[in-house]
Amino acid sequence: MTILTDKTKQELIQTAKALTASGKGILAADESTTTIQKRFDAIGVESSQESRQAYREMLFTAPGMEQFISGVIMFDETIRQKTSDGALFSKHLASKGVLTGIKVDAGAKPLALSDEREKITEGLDGLRERLAQYKSLGASFAKWRAVIMIGDTIPSKQAINTNAHALARYAALCQEAGIVPIIEPEVLMDGSHTIQRCEEVTTKVLKEVFEELEEQNVFLQGIILKPNMVIAGSECEKQSTSEEVAEASLRCFNKTVPSDVPGIAFLSGGQSDEEATKNLKAINTQKADAPWVLTFSYGRALQQATQKAWAGKNEEVAKAQEVFLKHAKENSEATRG
Ligand code: 13P
Repeated sequence: MTILTDKTKQELIQTAKALTASGKGILAADESTTTIQKRFDAIGVESSQESRQAYREMLFTAPGMEQFISGVIMFDETIRQKTSDGALFSKHLASKGVLTGIKVDAGAKPLALSDEREKITEGLDGLRERLAQYKSLGASFAKWRAVIMIGDTIPSKQAINTNAHALARYAALCQEAGIVPIIEPEVLMDGSHTIQRCEEVTTKVLKEVFEELEEQNVFLQGIILKPNMVIAGSECEKQSTSEEVAEASLRCFNKTVPSDVPGIAFLSGGQSDEEATKNLKAINTQKADAPWVLTFSYGRALQQATQKAWAGKNEEVAKAQEVFLKHAKENSEATRG
């Protein structure tokens, strides 16, 4: 059995601490080529290696972003790209004290012999070797997203268990490589379910995830949890107030997330920019003596308005950076309650 050395444990603790530093959150800029294409389609920009590089360079070189952003999650293509000055993005970010992360899952695929809406995230094959390579490219943390859909008869035990197991195996491989795993079991907002149903499912999922992490000997002080907030489905007649989201989310994490876990960094999951910020603020206002840092790891909530402002135009870079910084700052403030 390989066990983590004290040196590796210290390295993991340091990275997790840096990622959850006071007033800072994570920028999820790890959209796959297919997903960024959808985002670019919405703003009328052709998706090419060049346009993707230009867009990410705009984000990563936004002046002062390091005041609000502790780490950036990249996609495989992005971690190999450089700024116009010829520095690897990871090097440029490191010069500002910002950590580089890498999405290592290969996406959510249909789960065999299950309800057709259920998915399993793939990507464990060859992961040990890929992690070693990403580390040499400057990554100190990684991300794996599992997707759980709510319906009348789903999620099944099969979907919850297989996804939790894959997350735990991914996490163990990351830690062996000295890389902090971001563990993202996303219970989707899609559907008409109530906030109570979301709480019930999220609680079940997180409970299973932490059981699997324990089985795989994962060192909890060296992970970051990236969950959904507990919130009503986007089609539910009764939408949740921020106070309800905060109360239900904290109740759920208090039951399921061990106090050794240093930080919980939320995904935005399709909430509007304003909602995601308001809910994060309410959570931090209500958190009382919660043992974990509660921060953001947003993709859409930090980028939607930024992409609109940029619209693929060189002359709009400064304006788009301002929009990005405004959202990053507002979420940074929200972590202070
Ligand atoms: P959203 O904040 O847009 O949900 O993205 C976060 C993320 O990393 C999804 O995997």
